[in-house]
Amino acid sequence: RRPMTVPRFVRAKADGRKLTMLTAYDYLWAQMLDEAGVDSLLVGDTLGMVVQGRDTTLPVTLDQIIYHGEMVARAVRHALVIVDLPFLTYQVSPQQAIESAGRILKETGATAVKLEGGVQQAKTIEALTNADIPVMAHVGLRPQAVRMLGRMSAIQRESDRLLADAKSAADAGAFGIVLELIPGDIATAITEAVAVPTIGIGAGPGCDGQVLVTPDMFGMTTGFEPKFLKRYADLRSTIQQATREYVSEVREGQFPDAAHTHQ
Ligand code: KIV
Ligand code: NA
Repeated sequence: RRPMTVPRFVRAKADGRKLTMLTAYDYLWAQMLDEAGVDSLLVGDTLGMVVQGRDTTLPVTLDQIIYHGEMVARAVRHALVIVDLPFLTYQVSPQQAIESAGRILKETGATAVKLEGGVQQAKTIEALTNADIPVMAHVGLRPQAVRMLGRMSAIQRESDRLLADAKSAADAGAFGIVLELIPGDIATAITEAVAVPTIGIGAGPGCDGQVLVTPDMFGMTTGFEPKFLKRYADLRSTIQQATREYVSEVREGQFPDAAHTHQ
């Protein structure tokens, strides 16, 4: 397998090859997922929830995402590594976005960044593109807008607004667009309207690719059961069962036994 690049990622759409993306936050997981053949790894600001145990993505800092992005990029041989720009590390101005994204690329070894917004962020997407920093956009449900819009926003169902956001991001130079939690027919229409790949999460089968949050996909998290989520494993049970066995064997004096002891 050749390493995934931004041009190859974009070409997949014209070639009709579906793109796969998963989130990763550390070396061990990034290595496992990369070896298993995923096209791209996103160091998402879901870091705030699934790693840090917070309620939203808002508190994640640039230094924190760089710390995790660096661990992921070090593990990866093939996948395209994309790092989220955290809340308020790009909204202030296009210049702030270039400085934040520049730190991410220089300090982590990742290839690209992602930011939330379409029409609102067009100038910033253009500025990043002009600075030769590949940028992916993210429209539909925008978790960084939770204070402004609430958890489920009306915008997610307005097809004109969503189409305008996606087109504007693509026109400004985004090399791909995440579509989060929008009706499947709108996602299909957007996918047909833009030349760059759309990566869906809760956006139906009409997108050019798919992303899931890895701990959700492997059944490690609890209390998050949206309709779109498919759990491909039940690692939480597997890990807890093994933990109970270990605890009990140590307590009962069954482990370590002779077979696991240096003579
Ligand atoms: O932060 C994240 O994990 C994301 C994905 C849900 C697309 O942005
Ligand atoms: Na994100």
